[in-house]
Amino acid sequence: MKNLLSLCCFLAIFTACKKTVKIPEKSQKTGLITENAMVVSARIEASKIGNDILKKGGNAFDAMAATELALAVAYPYAGNLGGGGFMVYRKANGETGAIDYREKAPMAATKNMFLDEAGEVIPEKSTLGAMAVGVPGTVAGVFAVHEKLGKLPIADILNPVIALAKKGVIVTEKQEKRIKHYQPLFKKANKDSILFDKAWKAKDSIKYPNLAVTLERILKDGKDGFYKGETAKILAHFIQENGGIITEEDLASYEAQWRTPISFTYDDLKIISMSPPSSGGVCLAQIMKMIEPFHLDEYGHNSLKTIQIITEAERRAYADRSFYLGDPDFVKIPVETLINESYLGGRMNDFSFEKATSSKDISHGNISIIESVETTHYSIIDQFGNAISATTTLNGAYGSKLYCSELGFFLNNEMDDFSSKPGVPNMFGLIGAEANSIAPQKRMLSSMTPTIVEKNGELFMSVGTPGGSTIITSVLQTILNVHEFNMTMQEAVNAPRFHHQWLPDDIRMEPNSFDKSIIANLEKLGYTINEKDAPVIGKVDGILVLENKTLEGGADYRGDDTAVGF
Ligand code: DON
Repeated sequence: MKNLLSLCCFLAIFTACKKTVKIPEKSQKTGLITENAMVVSARIEASKIGNDILKKGGNAFDAMAATELALAVAYPYAGNLGGGGFMVYRKANGETGAIDYREKAPMAATKNMFLDEAGEVIPEKSTLGAMAVGVPGTVAGVFAVHEKLGKLPIADILNPVIALAKKGVIVTEKQEKRIKHYQPLFKKANKDSILFDKAWKAKDSIKYPNLAVTLERILKDGKDGFYKGETAKILAHFIQENGGIITEEDLASYEAQWRTPISFTYDDLKIISMSPPSSGGVCLAQIMKMIEPFHLDEYGHNSLKTIQIITEAERRAYADRSFYLGDPDFVKIPVETLINESYLGGRMNDFSFEKATSSKDISHGNISIIESVETTHYSIIDQFGNAISATTTLNGAYGSKLYCSELGFFLNNEMDDFSSKPGVPNMFGLIGAEANSIAPQKRMLSSMTPTIVEKNGELFMSVGTPGGSTIITSVLQTILNVHEFNMTMQEAVNAPRFHHQWLPDDIRMEPNSFDKSIIANLEKLGYTINEKDAPVIGKVDGILVLENKTLEGGADYRGDDTAVGF
């Protein structure tokens, strides 16, 4: 009997553990379902640490701080202390807000810093090594969120993260491949050998003792433990020694900014998403408002007509993005007009199901008053009903590839998100204009789109993704998959995605995922299909509030993403 009891106990615990740690597969129909709370992120270790904070009585904001910092340890590909991000939130009482902890250009930055004497863009200068680095914002963001909205002491949040850095993180198969792939660039960007030069194999454990020491200084001195004192001295010296221009003064003067999110309606949904300096919320609003009059549910998921409508709306929104959007602290952005229904209705006037519009014929819309590859996303809903959606990045995979061994982290290459020269595409093929030109202390334009959705006034979804310029369109498709096509959260995340960004004038599609006859019909109508450049589009993570108020996690099988909850 006793043995039977122990067996039952073991099975119960095993099932519970299994339930919380499963990485979804491509064919999976529903994600993890929990009753109270959930964290979905790119690594199981980070989701677990965030979830433990919730179990301890912390709220979504405490869990945000813990998950963000845990990703900096467990997911060096994109999680970071040396990068930045955005978070959108909705409190249980319905109040919404957003914080911008985006990197900034250093004070010594100049408009033409990435151009040679002939005025041409110098290859790799804005992507590889110290000149590519923007002043990091992550630690400031975490502390601003925790101070204003958190409940637990910061030690409760940092201690498990420090313990993880000391204990080490298991290398996954996907991570083994990524590290191997980027090793030639690590060698190119760093004078000395770095931790990631080693031939790490899946199941090895990587320990981060120096990162643990940096985190301990942050625990002791708060935000100043990063932006002032020893860490700042080491960091500024390291960057300058490698040819960069960030100073201790740049670090000391960095502040995260609270922003008002972009809010708009689509049918019975209210979408709350990130405002500039991210283009995410404005572009998402533009696309959704342009497609709202069409009946996508009748046309069907990834059908010819649905793909046409979404593509044409995306084309027009990205043309506006490139002209109007930048850092709102530096340029006046006509946000109200850009997301206004009558303006957007006019933008689709020349759309026809009979023929693709050419991007050559599309420019930014005319507004009468011109007031002028890597990221990671996590979603959290707590047991009190608060929700956050946060996207954080080093920009490219492992950022600038420059790794500060003494502090234990990679530095971003976010300077490439500025427009180095009007009309010349950045690493995501995005073209920018004056609004996104480089200036000292300016924030570079982003596509990150952390988003929260309400349905009939109640919390409905938290969603977001990495993917550079494709972020906005992946968030869009995930929301539509649930709302228009009745998918579960997991199905919505798993469904094949496509993307159009005005220029280049092609529809990027996840390869071998779309109906061949639909592709042939799109080509007949004048669309160029590109199945080469995007083996996967995004790694979407989201949480859906189901009708019975339980939560369903959608963790993207395209990465090692995992939902954990209780
Ligand atoms: O802020 C942005 O839009 C980019 N720095 C995001 C980069 C990214 O998502 C790369 N990931 N695949």
